[in-house]
Order: sequence, then structure tokens, then C-alpha cells
Amino acid sequence: MEACPRPELFDFCGVSMTSYFTKNWEKVQAFQARPDDIVIVTYPKSGTTWVCYILDLLYFGCSQERDASLYLHERVPFLELLEKLPTSPRLIKTHLPVQLLPKSFWEQKCRVVYVGRNPKDNAVSYFHFDRMNSLQPEPGDWNSFFHRFLDGNMVFGSWYDHVSGWWEKKQSYSNLLYLFYEDLVEDTGRELGRLASFLGLAPSAEDRQQIREKVHFDSMKNNPMTNGSTDHILDLSVSPFMRKGKVGDWKNHFTVAQNEVFEEHYLLKMKNSTVAFRTAL
Ligand code: A3P
Repeated sequence: MEACPRPELFDFCGVSMTSYFTKNWEKVQAFQARPDDIVIVTYPKSGTTWVCYILDLLYFGCSQERDASLYLHERVPFLELLEKLPTSPRLIKTHLPVQLLPKSFWEQKCRVVYVGRNPKDNAVSYFHFDRMNSLQPEPGDWNSFFHRFLDGNMVFGSWYDHVSGWWEKKQSYSNLLYLFYEDLVEDTGRELGRLASFLGLAPSAEDRQQIREKVHFDSMKNNPMTNGSTDHILDLSVSPFMRKGKVGDWKNHFTVAQNEVFEEHYLLKMKNSTVAFRTAL
């Protein structure tokens, strides 16, 4: 079977995108949010799947029936690909930068959970994802990918604009919880508690324990509902979808010279933002 060509990036309202996420744009912008919708927003490869799973279990419990029969991407679909979702509340994920989120979510004052991840690990994770995902542009070698990341020439645009744009929004929109991937790795139970109280939920100690076990990296890696093993777009022989789940893997990829370039560039790009990331724990 002949492989489909990889998609090209193009400029879309100042953000680089592929047509996969923009082809339904009128429908996306006209999306009618409901006040109890929960939106999970991330830059790609920041822990979307992890937080979607935590939220799904918090809302709908760990019942064997649901958890063993529905893929996570069906329970928590992409906004851009959403047709209908029978559950309430609707858990909806998106990678859109803040300025492109449909206005209905703001009008309905929906709760938004943002997850940010340090840019070095984020870039490495994104590189491996693009290698194994045929719907993403060709990643090229690590060095060229690294420079594209710095230039913001990635699907969903610049990491720098994304994390700082949503951080800025948090200052004026109180229904936004801004989480960090590194905090989740450091203490999943603590972050689970923060999420539950933001959402007005009070899971029992037993529920919390059960959720923590289910959302552990090793459990998710072995769970066909979350590990991407049935997704024909992903080539798991190139790289696993649940790859490493660590803070600091960038040290296995960045050369000393790349790190110096990165640090200098970071200071310049982020000089107007107060958001801070940890690249090690
Ligand atoms: P790595 O490639 O560094 O391993 P997304 O869901 O946004 O695509 O993010 C994917 C990243 O989150 C991957 O990072 C993946 O391994 C990590 N991840 C997913 N579930 C995790 C978990 N339970 N614990 C820690 N990391 C997790």
C-alpha cells in the first residue's frame, strides 16, 4: 500500500497549521458551547491525553463498562473534529491558541483546563510524535526540527505564543486552571486534588486512589483505550505514543550548542511573560 504524502504547513490567521484542523473552520468558530462544557487546552505533546483521562475518570468514574469499551479520544474528542457527544458535561480538547478559541466558550463562561510543559521536553516529544504520525508534516532530522520549533513553524504555531497567550488570559478569566506537566509528574495526587476542587468535585479517597493508579504512566501505556495502539495513523514501530513520560528527556537530545542557542532565544521570546517552567525536577 502506498503511503499518503505528509501534509504541508501553511499560515492560518498567523498560526502555522495543516488542513486537518482547519477544514471545518466555519463550523469550529460557530461552535455553540454549553455552560457546563469543560475545555482541555494544550500545546501538542504537553500531557493532553493524561489530563483528558484524569478528567474523564473524575467525572464519569472508573466503571469497568465505560473504561473498557470506549477509546479515550471518543470520550474526549478534539473540538475541531467534534460531531456530537452524548455525555454531560462534555469534555472537549483542543490545541488552539487563545485567540482562536470559539467565542461561545467565553460567553458561556466555560471552565478551561490548560496544561503547559517545559519547551525542551515538549519539543523532543513533538519530534518523536511527528516521526510516527503520518498526519503530521515530515519532521526531518532533530536539528532541523529543533530550529523549526524555535521559529514556531509547527502545527498549532509557536509554543512561546501558546503558553504565554493562555497564561495572559488566566489573569483576566477566572474559570481557567493553568497546570504544568512537571507538577503532574512530581505529585499526581496533589494536582488531581487541584483539578477536583477547580471543577467542584469531591471524589472519595478510594476514588482518588483508583484514578491515580489508572492514570499512572505504566497503566496508560498498557491500556489500549489510551495508548494509541488501535490508531492506524500512528506507527508505534517508529516510536510509542506513550513514549517516556519523564521530565528531562531533552538532555538525551539537545547538544550543548543547541542548548545555548535555545536559552538565548528563550529569554528573548519570553521576556514579556511571567510564566515559568521547570526543565528538571
Ligand atoms: P513523552 O513523549 O515525553 O513521553 P499529549 O498527550 O499531549 O500528546 O502528550 C504526550 C506526552 O505526555 C508524552 O510525552 C507522553 O508519554 C506523556 N504522557 C502521557 N501520559 C502520561 C502519564 N500518565 N504520565 C506521564 N507522562 C504521560
